[in-house]
Amino acid sequence: MFKDTLLEGKRILVTGGGSGLGKEMASEYAKLGAEVYICGRRKSVLDDTVKEITDAGGKAKAHACDIRVSEAINDMIDEIWADGGALTGLVNNAAGNFISPTKDLTPKGFEAISNIVFRGSFYITHACGTRWIKEDIKGSVISILTTWIWNGGPFTVPSAMSKAGVNIMTKSLAAEWGKYGIRLNAIAPGPFPTKGAWERLSPGQDADDSATSSGNPMGRNGEMQELRNLATFLMADGCDYLTGQTIAIDGAIHLASGGNFYQSLDRLSDDDWDGIRDMIRSSNDADKAKRSV
Ligand code: HXC
Repeated sequence: MFKDTLLEGKRILVTGGGSGLGKEMASEYAKLGAEVYICGRRKSVLDDTVKEITDAGGKAKAHACDIRVSEAINDMIDEIWADGGALTGLVNNAAGNFISPTKDLTPKGFEAISNIVFRGSFYITHACGTRWIKEDIKGSVISILTTWIWNGGPFTVPSAMSKAGVNIMTKSLAAEWGKYGIRLNAIAPGPFPTKGAWERLSPGQDADDSATSSGNPMGRNGEMQELRNLATFLMADGCDYLTGQTIAIDGAIHLASGGNFYQSLDRLSDDDWDGIRDMIRSSNDADKAKRSV
């Protein structure tokens, strides 16, 4: 769809770029000529992705960083700037989420998600934006949201609240920073199954039968190349007047049936939830064992 050299000269950081949607976008940006940085909490996962990208002829570097910690973000951004100059783009992709009845959440459970999505996305956008303003660089930010920002996310309330906040950050800063040439846009993907998300959103289910794909007007989940194309279009030069927008890419499921988990999860019993919680916790534990920060 795009010229192979479309993103040459761009330097883009993708948070959570070691796996899932972040890896897809980072790999695509590198394929189109960008120098890519990825960050996350699991250094070995990041290193594997960097190897895949560089083996394919791209340029990528990894930083272990927990975006919940603003000082760690500032150190990482300083290192990236010192490594080869300013970033030109940021993708707020890192997220945390798990399905749970809200009555069973603890404050710590709420914070585990909101500190990554709500606070972390702000910290890193602020860290890049303040440097861009100071250095007169027309940076571009893309945030990965969900369609729940429009109609709510029952059983994923901390994520829905946090992503709705990032949606408003996108609109607010598009206006406030437009005079500096800085653009902020967002993508609200529907069902693009990835291991990390589906272990926590549809544990024990095949992605093709998951709650989000059934009833989709297009009768299928999203294909990664479709998401990669949108993320490339928004990051590339040529649509500099496009800012403050959140674009859904979901086969129209949120228009047809809400696109959230209400119908499939509202009928579950407490016993069902006990089993789901156990499955999610074992995925969390397996990921945690690989964390380096
Ligand atoms: C209830 C749970 C729980 C569960 C964890 N907790 N899992 N509560 N039900 N299933 C609670 C814990 O009991 C604890 O509270 C608190 O959450 C923190 O747990 P930790 O494991 O210590 O947290 P932490 O190590 O910080 O891990 C963060 C995490 C984890 C969010 C819980 O899932 C994570 O790191 N995820 C990253 C990857 C990810 O989630 N990807 C999916 C993104 S999908 P107490 O009080 O008990 O100590 C997405 C939207 C997709 O964002 C949209 C698609 C349509």
